[in-house]
Amino acid sequence: MKASNPTTNRRQFLGTAAAGAAALVTRMAAQSPESRVDILLNEPVGTIAPEIYGHFVEHLGGVVYDGIWVGESSRIPNVNGLRKQLVDALKHVKPGMIRWPGGCFADQYDWRDGTGPRDKRPKRTNFWADSPDWPKDARRDGPERYDPNTVGTVEFARFCQQVGAQPYFAANLRSLPAQEFWRWVEYCNSPPNSTTLAALRAADGAPASLGVRYWGVGNESWGCGGNFDPEDYASEFNRYTAWVPTYGLSPALIGSGPNGGNVDWTRRFFGKLSKAGTLGRLWGWAMHNYSWNASAGRTTDWDAGKRDALKFDTEQYYELLHEADGMEALILAHWTVMAESDPRHRTKLVVDEWGAWHASGTEPFPEALIGQQNTMRDAVLAGLTLDTFNRHADKVGMAAIAQLVNCLQSLFLAHEDKFCLTPTYHVFDLYAAHQGARSVRTAFASPANQYNRNGAPATMRGLNGSASVNGSQLTLTVTNPSMDQPRETEIQVHGGAARSVAGVTLAASDPHAHNSFGDPRAVEPKTVAVTLKGAAIVHQFPPASVTKLTITLG
Ligand code: AHR
Repeated sequence: MKASNPTTNRRQFLGTAAAGAAALVTRMAAQSPESRVDILLNEPVGTIAPEIYGHFVEHLGGVVYDGIWVGESSRIPNVNGLRKQLVDALKHVKPGMIRWPGGCFADQYDWRDGTGPRDKRPKRTNFWADSPDWPKDARRDGPERYDPNTVGTVEFARFCQQVGAQPYFAANLRSLPAQEFWRWVEYCNSPPNSTTLAALRAADGAPASLGVRYWGVGNESWGCGGNFDPEDYASEFNRYTAWVPTYGLSPALIGSGPNGGNVDWTRRFFGKLSKAGTLGRLWGWAMHNYSWNASAGRTTDWDAGKRDALKFDTEQYYELLHEADGMEALILAHWTVMAESDPRHRTKLVVDEWGAWHASGTEPFPEALIGQQNTMRDAVLAGLTLDTFNRHADKVGMAAIAQLVNCLQSLFLAHEDKFCLTPTYHVFDLYAAHQGARSVRTAFASPANQYNRNGAPATMRGLNGSASVNGSQLTLTVTNPSMDQPRETEIQVHGGAARSVAGVTLAASDPHAHNSFGDPRAVEPKTVAVTLKGAAIVHQFPPASVTKLTITLG
């Protein structure tokens, strides 16, 4: 294929990955048409945990009630009360894990409220009841504000079983005593007929252990989870985890980690646990990082910095993707600081809230608090974030996009009998092949994207992606963040030979393209022809696209 932009200045090429790989790129870039990808099969990074492909469900707006739960007696097709279309579609993308019940809601939630006969469960005021972000026409008395607790532990665990995901429960550290943490573990995991709480679980419909291995100890403990400082939170963590029953499951305890780049929170928490000799209890360290500031440096204010999900210009498009692209630096920064106390890296990084957070105004329906639309820009954001996790499979043990349905960067929009998949859903579909595969090092060389940032020239990286091997199948995923330039690319596999290649691309003629209840299939992946030219694969990646190439190795 002919290079689409032969005038591109090769000095603008961006190399990624390790120094050795970068040198290889520089040598080989001179021969390439425009962009180049080198896949280094003999440089394994680590196994990609299926839990990296995780999701987040909070009792917030339209996520649980209406989004997931419609009730057994609903005319909307359901499986034990769970929206069938959502269950089927989610199962298809192989969700590794689902985090529940929050978020900020988790530190307000009493797990006992979600047990016992459903018609006798208490109604409780939801954490988000007074949020200033409710659309004006949202109803004021629904389950979004007064939670009926219809969906409790057993109902949620069933949802996880239906879709094949590991449950990851976030325990309330701010407003319940430590005793309630281990008792929730006992309710979930003690063997049948062993304890009073196992009997309660059986009465709730689940005689067998729910097998919950992942437990979060608080949420955003630096913020809505109690406004702790790192040392005080570390003391609470030690108290809550001093004894947790295991039932042969080796529970994976996850600490409430930093907000984005706050390495001070990481350093001080790890320092205190290391001094106390309790670091061995910490399986995972959970960072939260949203991509929200599209103001191009005009403000750092949380509200003022956000922009519309649908109406964005070139500057806002690149700014948001640039924010998401910062994930790599965040992983490396926290990983380095963690090593000061944990040089053997026994604790993994968990990124259990990530995604785009746009300004309000595109909620799919009024009760969908902080719900937003989702375009091809969001799809590219998802692709480049998942590729970052894959490239750091040795560090990232688990991750969750926020949130599953009707909230933030959702995979689904669902309201009453209306349902649609978002472009982000299709990215998870494309990337599912990476789960459990061995991540191998890749090197990308591609023209950087130029744009005008608040009156000054700025760049956003060009093509990027990740590769993994599973038997004779090599999966390469690539994002092209350019808003308008296709990238003619040569791909070389080192340490093996490509015998055949198949491609699927998610792209649209306009990066603003999105799906909606009225037009649910506006953005869909398409099979594309890919050329195998001797040892090289040649392909043109369309603008604002996410592509998966499945390469059979000979
Ligand atoms: O995902 C929405 C909220 O964002 C979560 O409740 C909280 O943890 C974060 O601040």
